[in-house]
Amino acid sequence: MSFPEQLAACASQVQSTLDALLPTVAQSRVAEPMRYAVMNGGKRLRAFLVLESARLYGVEQTAALRVAAAIESIHAYSLVHDDLPCMDDDDLRRGKPTVHIKWDYATAVLVGDALQSFAFEVLAQPETSANADIRCNLVATLAHAAGGCGMVLGQAQDIAAETAARGLTLTEITELQANKTGALIRWSAQAGAMLAGQDTTLMRDYATAIGLAFQIQDDVLDIEGDAAAAGKRLQKDADAGKATFVSLLGLDAAKKRANSLVTEACDVLAPLGERAEPLRQVARFIVARKM
Ligand code: IPE
Ligand code: IPE
Ligand code: MG
Ligand code: MG
Ligand code: MG
Repeated sequence: MSFPEQLAACASQVQSTLDALLPTVAQSRVAEPMRYAVMNGGKRLRAFLVLESARLYGVEQTAALRVAAAIESIHAYSLVHDDLPCMDDDDLRRGKPTVHIKWDYATAVLVGDALQSFAFEVLAQPETSANADIRCNLVATLAHAAGGCGMVLGQAQDIAAETAARGLTLTEITELQANKTGALIRWSAQAGAMLAGQDTTLMRDYATAIGLAFQIQDDVLDIEGDAAAAGKRLQKDADAGKATFVSLLGLDAAKKRANSLVTEACDVLAPLGERAEPLRQVARFIVARKM
């Protein structure tokens, strides 16, 4: 299978898993917007990282798919809230109206809340792992990665930077991005090792590099991407005064930095040999992508 075919296969499996696990419209009045937010496309990169790391560590796919569904739900929640008027104020996501545009603000807040709870519910269920210590570790580490010392902190740093008296330094931007986008990407790549009860250091180092490369490419696309391909409004970061690698280094140096991070990530995978090829491919895709 080519890499795009592998990514598409992952997306379709995650879609079926989400469909089976999410509340139905008969069960909840927020089921429809929840499904809209998380099942409405997306590249499923975080899910791909979960599935590939699980495969490398010998974890069976049914369990890995549940974990993939959980991280995509957390990611979707973060996007629903990121798009709210009090944050980035966006009306388009994945080529469709954002949840607060299609429904209303209250629904968007509640859908984000519900998707977050749903993710932890799935992780905590015995079908995710027969080993309660492993389940507990997945829950605790994801709570940390998504919370006030992880993704939420990064979002707060991002918002604060818009109105800061001085621009951020390279070190500060690196830290912001490592929280905002890096935390969930690092967790995704480590999840397979966690499911296997193995050490996660190698996966963490790999994902630290690709996580930063990922956000640099997001910032590059904000400047020179195609809105139709990206499925979201672009050229908003500069207007909002967002601190990005591009705003600090310029486009060329930012792209160089992203590419050298991909090399770094591939070097980390060396001990795993050929088996880690899909993880090298996803690293290259992250900086080559147009969406
Ligand atoms: C977009 O993430 C938000 C960022 C963290 C920069 P993705 O580019 O992975 O979004 P989807 O899931 O493919 O829509
Ligand atoms: C969003 O970052 C990151 C999270 C939701 C945690 P951005 O604000 O840069 O993402 P886009 O550009 O709206 O997708
Ligand atoms: Mg944002
Ligand atoms: Mg945004
Ligand atoms: Mg962005």
